Amino acid sequence: MATDPDYRTTLLACFEDEIGGEAYFHGMAEHFDEPGAAEKLHLMGEVERCAAETVRPLLERHGLKPRAEETLHAQGKTSIARRAGMSWTALVDDMAARYPAYIDDFRALEAMAPEEDLPALRLLTEHEAVLIAFVEREKAGDATAADPMRTYIASCRG
Ligand SMILES: [Fe+2]
Repeated sequence: MATDPDYRTTLLACFEDEIGGEAYFHGMAEHFDEPGAAEKLHLMGEVERCAAETVRPLLERHGLKPRAEETLHAQGKTSIARRAGMSWTALVDDMAARYPAYIDDFRALEAMAPEEDLPALRLLTEHEAVLIAFVEREKAGDATAADPMRTYIASCRG
């Protein structure tokens, strides 16, 4: 069965967004002085990289070629200026408001996918759930808020 062309386009876009997101979060880490904020943003960047690497074999399976990492990183960094002046608390609130919608996007990708791609795509969806779990715990002042990210990163590095 031929793979849905929309699936291939969306899969590639998702991969590229994670690579861009990696640079975005690492770049954001330079702008937040609140205790622990930079470390947490770096962890978010690592979660993005893990998610991308989980999906990379699917690109190969479908003959998709992402743009150069430098290009994607530069694209990701364009979103930094818009939020770099926020307080950490405001940024966390902003992420808590925006990120749940991404879960719907990843579920929609799963719904279009061939069966063999689902294990990797579920891990892609999970990375967003992990980021949301972090943000919600951070909002609540949980000192162990970053633990779901550490667990995800450790498992994806196997
Ligand atoms: Fe992501």
